Amino acid sequence: MLSREIHLKSYPKGLPSSENFELTTVTVSEDLGDKEVLVRNLYMSVDPYMRGRMSGKKTYVDPFALNEALTGGAVGRVVASRHNDWPVGTLVSHFFGWREAFKTADGRQLTKLPDMQDLSPSVWLGALGMPGLTAYAGLLEVAAMKEGETVFVSGAAGAVGAIVGQIAKIKKGRVIGSCGTSEKAAYLTTELGFDTALNYRQAPIAQQLAQAAPDGIDVYFDNVGGDHLEAALPLMKNFGRIALCGAIAQYNDQEPGPGPKNLAFAIIRRLTLRGFIVSDFAGMQKDFVRDMSLWMKEGQVKARETIVEGLDQALPAFLGLFKGENTGKMLVRL
Ligand SMILES: NC(=O)c1ccc[n+]([C@@H]2O[C@H](COP(=O)([O-])OP(=O)(O)OC[C@H]3O[C@@H](n4cnc5c(N)ncnc54)[C@H](OP(=O)(O)O)[C@@H]3O)[C@@H](O)[C@H]2O)c1
Repeated sequence: MLSREIHLKSYPKGLPSSENFELTTVTVSEDLGDKEVLVRNLYMSVDPYMRGRMSGKKTYVDPFALNEALTGGAVGRVVASRHNDWPVGTLVSHFFGWREAFKTADGRQLTKLPDMQDLSPSVWLGALGMPGLTAYAGLLEVAAMKEGETVFVSGAAGAVGAIVGQIAKIKKGRVIGSCGTSEKAAYLTTELGFDTALNYRQAPIAQQLAQAAPDGIDVYFDNVGGDHLEAALPLMKNFGRIALCGAIAQYNDQEPGPGPKNLAFAIIRRLTLRGFIVSDFAGMQKDFVRDMSLWMKEGQVKARETIVEGLDQALPAFLGLFKGENTGKMLVRL
């Protein structure tokens, strides 16, 4: 079977471009050895953290190797198998994204997924997958949000942010979200039930946020960093909590940007700022899937996806994350 895959050719400086990548075709042998499993991918995820892995430096995870297929979350179906635990037709999630098909020696890197009648398998890469768990653990555990609190979430129309805001509504919070277009802002308030949505391109975020939160903010879920973090700090209530989830505004910076110039508010307001990585919260996975499945079934959480077609669109989809081209989870259908 022929499979196309995307290799990293060079480590990008600043915003990546097509020159840093190569779309190539390999042959995946269908002649399987004992216990081998052949998987055809259905959907792959593009995620902001992948930019960090393209830097050539180790962060909390190793950098991508050059001249090899990139990796990342994906779901696929077993199309040939010589392993009794992985029969043909099994739906699986795994980390062999950025390619159409692959073979594993013994299925150990695969996770079985249930086939659900009313939900697309892509949901395991979004609301029921890594971004959903990030939102759930970040809001409820890292920021320890309590009922009735005022929550501000940046990147609010994205995969993580949209779920954060909806969980905060379920927990009876007052929710303010920021995003980059008025269409997204309207989506947050009319479809997802946010109390207030701010378009940071319309006016300085600090000014808009001060108007939206006259009584202060208990929890800030930071997906953006930079000016958004700086805007939130002086508006935090005493003993407020900031979950530092991401800083997408800075991922393509060639030089580290300045830290928030008003960090002294962390002292003045006795704040807790806690960075976190979702993989540290694997212990919450079972509760998360139980709660999120129920919320989705009841219509309390809606999970929009932005889907592009074909592996050749994976790079534009990835770059689109930095231009705000997605509403909800950005995915590639393979
Ligand atoms: N800590 C963890 O374990 C963990 C896990 C998953 C994700 N994350 C982080 O969480 C954040 C959201 O991830 P996601 O997967 O949900 O992505 P996403 O929000 O679905 O997509 C990225 C969004 O970021 C916004 N954006 C891009 N550049 C921006 C800028 N310069 N200023 C403000 N907004 C900008 C865009 O929306 P607009 O139209 O609103 O600009 C874009 O749609 C990222 O920072 C990511 O790295 C962290």
